[in-house]
Amino acid sequence: MTEDQSPVLVEFDNGIAFVTLNRPEKRNAMNPALNARMLEVLDELEGDERCGVLVLRGAGESWSAGMDLKEYFRDNDDKPRDATLKARRQSGGWWGRLMYFEKPTIAMVNGWCFGGAFTPLVSCDLAIAAEEANFGLSEINWGILPGGNVTRAVAEVMRHRDALYYIMTGELFGGRKAAEMGLVNEAVPLAELEPRVRKICASLLEKNPVTLKAAKDTYKRVRNLPWDLADDYIYAKLEQMLFLDKTKGRDEGLKQFLDDKTYQPGLGAYRR
Ligand code: ACO
Repeated sequence: MTEDQSPVLVEFDNGIAFVTLNRPEKRNAMNPALNARMLEVLDELEGDERCGVLVLRGAGESWSAGMDLKEYFRDNDDKPRDATLKARRQSGGWWGRLMYFEKPTIAMVNGWCFGGAFTPLVSCDLAIAAEEANFGLSEINWGILPGGNVTRAVAEVMRHRDALYYIMTGELFGGRKAAEMGLVNEAVPLAELEPRVRKICASLLEKNPVTLKAAKDTYKRVRNLPWDLADDYIYAKLEQMLFLDKTKGRDEGLKQFLDDKTYQPGLGAYRR
């Protein structure tokens, strides 16, 4: 298979790994080959120094048209149950890895985003959409409910009434509406999508990567914990972070502000 035919493309540019869902002729629907490859790609990128931030985008006019209704669903219907279970493990596997990925992750939603694609969308730390993008929980339109943890994913970021409305109607909504409801951080015109994402990447790349990983994981974990456990977890994570950060970023940040007076933490990151 040549690189162009691969269901997932990876390109590096100044600390950013652009990961492209690459089945434009099928609107980047997620089939078993794409899901299996995404698991490998995440493993490969985890320790790759060229990847400081991972940006997940779609080839052509789609981000992803959700699960491949033929290859993921119908082709497995006549096979023994273990085929369905394997397909679920592959998709859920990379979405789960993405949720707690070692590097910051940004979903760059350039176009269609349907059904199963909501889970990797929410698994990314941040999401920036084109105003022109269209989203839909279309499961209801073909007779199923949002599985693959899509229901859980929308409950995580969308308001109760909004989530139920779109789960039950399957209506399309655009990038601006997605931003207004909290499904994505913001929506910008398509022409400004990549520049905006690159700007956010530049900000993230200035930060201490050990601190970033600890901070995002801590937020994602503690929101479902009671206060006393959350408090304990946060301090445990903080102390783990100080142990893992061989650059001693905290001490350096304090030194550059308090002693050197070369920067102000309220206005930007310390120089690494
Ligand atoms: N699964 C399998 N094949 C798909 C999918 C999909 N999710 N989405 C598109 N395709 C295929 C089409 O079958 C078609 O294949 P063909 O060229 O071999 O006939 C090709 O991609 C192009 O699709 P069109 O429908 O012709 O493209 P168009 O640009 O007109 O429409 C749209 C795009 C709106 C995304 C449409 O393809 C569509 O509705 N796709 C299904 C979206 C969806 O509901 N996904 C499932 C969500 S539920 C879940 O993920 C569990």
